[in-house]
Amino acid sequence: MDQDNSELSRLQQEAQTRQTIMEAITRKFAAEDDGLQHALLAAKEAALPEIQISPVQGKFLQLLAVACSAQKILEIGSLGGYSGIWLARSLPAGGHFITLEINPTHAELVRNAFIHAGVSDRAEVRVGKALDLLPQLEHEAPFDLIFIDADKPPYPQYLEWALRLSRPGSIIVADNCIRGGKGFEDPQDEYSAGIVAYNNRVASDPRLISLALAMDDDYTDGFAISVVRQ
Ligand code: SAH
Ligand code: DHB
Ligand code: MG
Repeated sequence: MDQDNSELSRLQQEAQTRQTIMEAITRKFAAEDDGLQHALLAAKEAALPEIQISPVQGKFLQLLAVACSAQKILEIGSLGGYSGIWLARSLPAGGHFITLEINPTHAELVRNAFIHAGVSDRAEVRVGKALDLLPQLEHEAPFDLIFIDADKPPYPQYLEWALRLSRPGSIIVADNCIRGGKGFEDPQDEYSAGIVAYNNRVASDPRLISLALAMDDDYTDGFAISVVRQ
């Protein structure tokens, strides 16, 4: 019993250490300004689910966008515009960010969030089901970075579209690819099935070099990151 207790307190200590580290990294490298905080607050007031990416994930997306000299970025799944603000801000003058959102109420919040964050000159939200909107983007391709973060069952289809709409050197990122380990197990539901199939495809597609990284607040979920080979 004593042994159980000390094991428990050791695990709690480790979790505490991970949290302290993540907070320190966030303060040092990924502090939110008023624009990002306003987007979060507006989404909360409108009772949207709090499922946006973390600040560290936002900064990581910016870093990837700059690494591939992104001028055109596409996002699938906007919510309240939080990840969109991070992405739009990585663009140089003349760059363009498009985000796809099925829910018109979310899209309206996103428009306001983009105005408040000062990115509405380069950031645009399109309303509709992603699989209906993606074919209309072919004449605006290639996108340098594509961030997939909408409903999970069609993730493999979103990957197909990302490959069609990208170029060699483009970066494709998908959120929620770990899900506490469910991303790598035999899927028990439609949600996991989409994620597992996505991971299997990006891990084995010869057109891509890929890695999944645990990087959310408690290191149990994160992005699958792929680069389209030259
Ligand atoms: N990227 C956001 C979080 C997105 S949450 C952020 O980190 O800030 C997922 C969003 O995808 C929700 O707003 C949901 O309405 C939207 N969505 C769900 N299914 C969709 C579909 N088929 N097409 C487009 N958007 C969809
Ligand atoms: C859910 C969706 C997300 O994109 C996310 O990051 C977390 C949770 C969800 O649908 O539950
Ligand atoms: Mg997500």
